[in-house]
Amino acid sequence: MADDTAARIDAYIDDLYVRQDRALLDALAGTKEAGLPAINVPPTLGRLLSILVRTANATRALEIGSLGGYSGIWIARALPKNGRLITLEIEPRHAEVARRHYAAAGVAEKVDVRVGAALDTLPSLLDEAPFDFVFIDADKDNYPGYLDWALRLSRPGTVIVGDNVLRGGSVINPTAGDAGAEGTHRFNEMAANDPRLEALIIPNRNGHDGVLVSVVKAAS
Ligand code: SAH
Ligand code: DHB
Ligand code: MG
Repeated sequence: MADDTAARIDAYIDDLYVRQDRALLDALAGTKEAGLPAINVPPTLGRLLSILVRTANATRALEIGSLGGYSGIWIARALPKNGRLITLEIEPRHAEVARRHYAAAGVAEKVDVRVGAALDTLPSLLDEAPFDFVFIDADKDNYPGYLDWALRLSRPGTVIVGDNVLRGGSVINPTAGDAGAEGTHRFNEMAANDPRLEALIIPNRNGHDGVLVSVVKAAS
């Protein structure tokens, strides 16, 4: 398929299904203005996160990697009024920008930003488990550890999602020393082979990246 057709198909989907209000657009602009990297999920993935949160009937959601709050707004808005999103972020500056954007989007009371390296803060969440929905989107070399923790903090029916699991194809042939690609590939293998999970990678970003969608199975 010619790339321009692929691009026009993407635009067709966006036009029909992705309606971003002022707060979402401001979160993107504000993230950029604050000098944070533009590595938020694309709007279509925000929409998918929202659908999955609702499908899971989630009230307790966990995100690893807040950045400027863009994906968190999609997740928090899909939660019911009494729902809570805990989002983990290592950079205090990112956490501050994210909190500002949650407030502007009207979801501040639903979102709790915890600052620190996620592998250090995850153990403290055992008290607040199980989570109904988990979105993994932080440093890629730690994805295997994040999947272990997501499973520990889950129950049957929990939906676990991971962003950037194809990374431009580098997972197929990780070059030595590319810890991100190796971590993501190991994460993909773990999700594929863990008997507790049913999982699939859905390619996105024109096939250049993908999102792993999985659900914790009930015993059968
Ligand atoms: N989910 C966001 C994008 C996250 S980008 C969105 O779509 O809007 C990845 C984020 O993970 C960055 O903000 C980065 O600072 C954070 N991060 C990187 N390493 C981390 C770690 N060890 N623990 C917690 N957060 C981390
Ligand atoms: C990067 C991280 C992301 O979460 C993403 O969606 C895109 C790029 C990165 O670290 O380069
Ligand atoms: Mg990402």
